[in-house]
Amino acid sequence: MKLTKEIILQTQDYETPCLVVDLNIIKQNYKNMTECFKDIDIFYAIKANSDTNIIKTLMELGSKFETSSLNEVKILLTLGVKPENIVNSAPYRKEIYLQKMYKMGIRMFVYDTEEELEKFKRSAPEAELFLRVDVDNTGSDWPLSMKFGVEPKDAVELIKKAHEMNIKVLGTTFHVGSQCLNLENWEKALTQMKNIHDECKQSGINLEMINLGGGIPIKHLKEIPNVKLTAEKIKSLVEEKFSPIPKMIIEPGRGLVGNAGIMIAEVISKRKYKGQTWIYLDIGVFHGMMETIEGFDYEILTEKDVEAEEQGQKVLDDEKESYVIAGPSCDGVDVMFKDGKIMSKVEVGDKVYIINAAAYTISYASLFNGYKIPKTYYVKNGNNFLFSPNCLVETIYRL
Ligand SMILES: Cc1ncc(COP(=O)(O)O)c(C=O)c1O
Repeated sequence: MKLTKEIILQTQDYETPCLVVDLNIIKQNYKNMTECFKDIDIFYAIKANSDTNIIKTLMELGSKFETSSLNEVKILLTLGVKPENIVNSAPYRKEIYLQKMYKMGIRMFVYDTEEELEKFKRSAPEAELFLRVDVDNTGSDWPLSMKFGVEPKDAVELIKKAHEMNIKVLGTTFHVGSQCLNLENWEKALTQMKNIHDECKQSGINLEMINLGGGIPIKHLKEIPNVKLTAEKIKSLVEEKFSPIPKMIIEPGRGLVGNAGIMIAEVISKRKYKGQTWIYLDIGVFHGMMETIEGFDYEILTEKDVEAEEQGQKVLDDEKESYVIAGPSCDGVDVMFKDGKIMSKVEVGDKVYIINAAAYTISYASLFNGYKIPKTYYVKNGNNFLFSPNCLVETIYRL
């Protein structure tokens, strides 16, 4: 989302930190993805941002939804999403939650262990499963391969196991890593899926589907492959490797919402410390900027950058400074940019604008140290803003 003078003016009296979101960008992202991923059903991963305004917008456009917990399922059902349009893709869940989701009509789930199959046998016998396979996440800014998925060599055994237990396996799933900048990950993953599907076929088990997971990146500071390029790559790989072509679904989170928002924060302190200049913001790791602890980088702008751009210029190097940027809490881990970030000079009281920060920010935010979860404001008709109190999400999460 582009930072403009108008956004700066409209938000100047807002309490910070806050997130400003333009739903039109989410609509465009969805439209673009449906065009690029023709014949592939889109299940928005609501963990990226579960604000009801976003969910409703995507629901109206026909999106389906990926969930990881019972509460995420409850939010969707409360908003009127049909259970058949929901997949529950976290490979582990409490059996009591599985029973509840099953009772609510959810049928599509993910597994990656024999233990989990036992739960399905007991509590959700007509569930339809995807087997999560561990794949290479090299070159993805937020890897997801260290915790989930069966090793490819053990995949067929685990599918056979489900078959013996009379549990239906729809197909395979994987995640190439969030903010995946490396198209080779898709190639390697789809080759592994092909081998698994082929081996199953030889054993008389027909896998009908592939769940492509998430991973579609948005623009931060590095170059990214655009959605069209990623979709074309996937399409040509699937056409080359599979016959017949399996039915596919995809679960984008970041790629649908991340670029639709700007996080606004204020500089609350500044000092020299151990040879570096530090600034402290009123937002930190615990209140929305969690992904920075793994080195996730954002573009950070100030009013000066927008003024310079309006005159067709850039802020000069001698008006920039390198900052270690920390959050407000009384915790040493709360440092967002440890290595020093070069940006326009700021002083205490100045606002900073963290660009393309609508995914995995509010959904990670906690009340740690008594700081509030940043409010979300929506751009309406170009220059009015609507405050989203997030009440449904909060009510359901606190039940
Ligand atoms: C199972 C699953 N699907 C989809 C997603 C969404 O990924 P992304 O935001 O990279 O598109 C995630 C993210 O953690 C996930 O765990």
